[in-house]
Amino acid sequence: MKDLFSVEGKTVLVTGGSRGIGEMIATGFVENGAKVYIAARKQADCDRVARELSKRGTCIPIAADLSTDAGARALADTIAEREPALHVLVNNAGANWGAPYEEYPDSAWDKVLALNVKSVFHLTRYCTPLLEKGVRDGDPARVINIGSIDGIQAPALETYAYSASKAAVHHLTKVLATKLAPRNITVNAVAPGPFESKMMAATLDTFKDAIVAGCPLKRIGEPEDMAGVTIYLASRAGAYVTGVVIPVDGGIRI
Ligand SMILES: NC(=O)c1ccc[n+]([C@@H]2O[C@H](COP(=O)([O-])OP(=O)(O)OC[C@H]3O[C@@H](n4cnc5c(N)ncnc54)[C@H](OP(=O)(O)O)[C@@H]3O)[C@@H](O)[C@H]2O)c1
Repeated sequence: MKDLFSVEGKTVLVTGGSRGIGEMIATGFVENGAKVYIAARKQADCDRVARELSKRGTCIPIAADLSTDAGARALADTIAEREPALHVLVNNAGANWGAPYEEYPDSAWDKVLALNVKSVFHLTRYCTPLLEKGVRDGDPARVINIGSIDGIQAPALETYAYSASKAAVHHLTKVLATKLAPRNITVNAVAPGPFESKMMAATLDTFKDAIVAGCPLKRIGEPEDMAGVTIYLASRAGAYVTGVVIPVDGGIRI
């Protein structure tokens, strides 16, 4: 049972790893001995975070736009050129769009579904051959999708495409878990509650006190909460878990 939660020596790709929840997850893996690739659109942001994390381990930046099929394929190809195997894929990159019901634009649906749902499918599919090479005896390869509690319960804010996209991510997780289990790849989702990030900045500026008051554990999420659940899923400890959606929300949804 020693080293049950170890991810040392694993190769991990975290999309959207240049800030927010993706950076929290990347930091957890780097500090626990994994080799971590972070991918996002802005090269300078990826470079800055990778430079910082490389002081504590191994982190490699790659610029990638995952909003298109071609972008997802290019990222998978780049990793395959550099690595013999991928052990963990974290599909974290996501976007939100809030607007009143009467004004909610068609373009919001296209943008949000393309990144939050389609890119999860495309990147997982294009990374599958490399993930298969990452399967070890008794230690499957892992796909971890970042959903949201907004995909479990109706959100307070007017984010129609976003909440629908996150429910889709949760369901896609179960579908892909079924498909990839015979290849020894587990697929699970994490459904975060509120965490500090650029995406959440405006919401927390206005509603943080009310959110904390309504949270059974009386706080918002910390980096360790997000690192902890993804390390659990990626380590030997989580090897027999597939097709689940784990809320990490301090109990907000109950
Ligand atoms: N923060 C929360 O409280 C919360 C709660 C529930 C769920 N989530 C989920 O957690 C994930 C991360 O959210 P966050 O709050 O950390 O958001 P964030 O601060 O806005 O970070 C989003 C990350 O995704 C990258 N990204 C955006 N568009 C991209 C694209 N087209 N291609 C590649 N990368 C792209 C961003 O970098 P670039 O802009 O440089 O591309 C950034 O690294 C999302 O899936 C979100 O839905 C967050």
